[in-house]
Amino acid sequence: MRLTEQIDMRQPRDTIREECEVLQINDNQLREIMNRLNKALLLGLGKETHSKAIVKCFITYIQDLPNGTEKGKFLALDLGGTNFRVLIINLGPNHFDMQSKIYAIPKHIMTGTGTALFDHIAECLANFMKEHEVFNERLALGFTFSFPLKQLGLTKGILERWTKGFSCSGVVGEDVVQLLKDAIARRGDISISVMGILNDATGCLMSCAHKKRDARIAVIIGTGSNACYVEKTDNCELFDGPPGKKELLINTEWGAFGDDGALDFIRTEFDRDVDANSINPGKQVQEKMISGMYMGELVRLVLVKFTKMGLLFGGRGSDLLFERGSFYTKYVSEIESDKPGDYTNCMDILEELGLSHATEADMAGVRHVCECVSRRAAHLVSAGMATLLNKMAEPRVTIGIDGSVYRFHPHFHSLMCEKIAQLANPGIVFDLMLSEDGSGRGAALVAAVACRERC
Ligand code: BGC
Repeated sequence: MRLTEQIDMRQPRDTIREECEVLQINDNQLREIMNRLNKALLLGLGKETHSKAIVKCFITYIQDLPNGTEKGKFLALDLGGTNFRVLIINLGPNHFDMQSKIYAIPKHIMTGTGTALFDHIAECLANFMKEHEVFNERLALGFTFSFPLKQLGLTKGILERWTKGFSCSGVVGEDVVQLLKDAIARRGDISISVMGILNDATGCLMSCAHKKRDARIAVIIGTGSNACYVEKTDNCELFDGPPGKKELLINTEWGAFGDDGALDFIRTEFDRDVDANSINPGKQVQEKMISGMYMGELVRLVLVKFTKMGLLFGGRGSDLLFERGSFYTKYVSEIESDKPGDYTNCMDILEELGLSHATEADMAGVRHVCECVSRRAAHLVSAGMATLLNKMAEPRVTIGIDGSVYRFHPHFHSLMCEKIAQLANPGIVFDLMLSEDGSGRGAALVAAVACRERC
């Protein structure tokens, strides 16, 4: 009898572990992913192949990293994650003084018309300028716009498509700098000069390079995911800017990697479910396996399956568990922050979800699912980082990183350090650096460097 009980106790745990194996990517698979990503990057950079490429490798027209001599007062806008921010930044030889305000973007604006979106942005900017008593000044502005943008110059960028829950009409195919200028003109009460438009990954790289000169790659693991790196201008076949500078920042837009099936060999039923129920099915396949907008939902789908199989919660779920979007990505970080053998956060979260009947074995199962999903994300990002490091073939590179998943997950950093070291070519030394507000600082720095170069 005792023996039978023990076997019964052990069985769900073992089955959970077996079922979760589909979420593990082994090193051979990671190396295959690296090969495919490398090819995808080359297609994005190539003149003949770019238009059909999945990983676009957009040219940023940023060729100068900060050198520490930038100075002046700048405005910055940051649109792209969960919030919209306006910032004012004072840059000097040894100081960086920044004030900012977060403005919500209501859901109806995220999915409404482009005109309403840009009117809202212009209104927030005007209010901010009033509050900071620069209403009547004409300041230089950097605009961080974190969506796939085909840049035609430092201040001209055409939106390729929306991601991350945005779907405003009338913006795809348009120059977003012009849309911002139009909205400001409609108000007629403020005046700014847009010095540059950039992506958050680019901003992250600029802000890290301001502190560490060997920062050459940046990656965002937040609501969405993306990477930016320094490429030799000679390799950027589409670059049509002024000759003479050896390097150029490339916004890879790697969130789209896999949109052509390149990741199908590691995708699971949970990934397909998340994708099918998203606002952009078939798009941003890699992003949906990595980023904060989807991670919690992936975990939830696994938990639902295990509950239905009778492996968790005695087969009894709750209304919330079965509701889409109810398992927030921050829960993954919180659950994994519990010490081994302790389930304090896990218990609180399961209670919130109406699962107070969970046993300790259930909590161990839930934690295991979280670990598998977050570890897979960390490994995918690491494969991407190693691909870029190997491609750049520089002996020493600092990688700037930003985004809520990296920032708040207790083990993402160490998982990445370990896996990149295994996948990068021998002899390459790298360092991971948490970026301090790359989007805001980066926008100001792009504006500042543009002013520096002009003077
Ligand atoms: C966007 C990128 C952005 C990334 C991180 C993705 O969805 O396409 O432009 O850099 O999210 O915010």
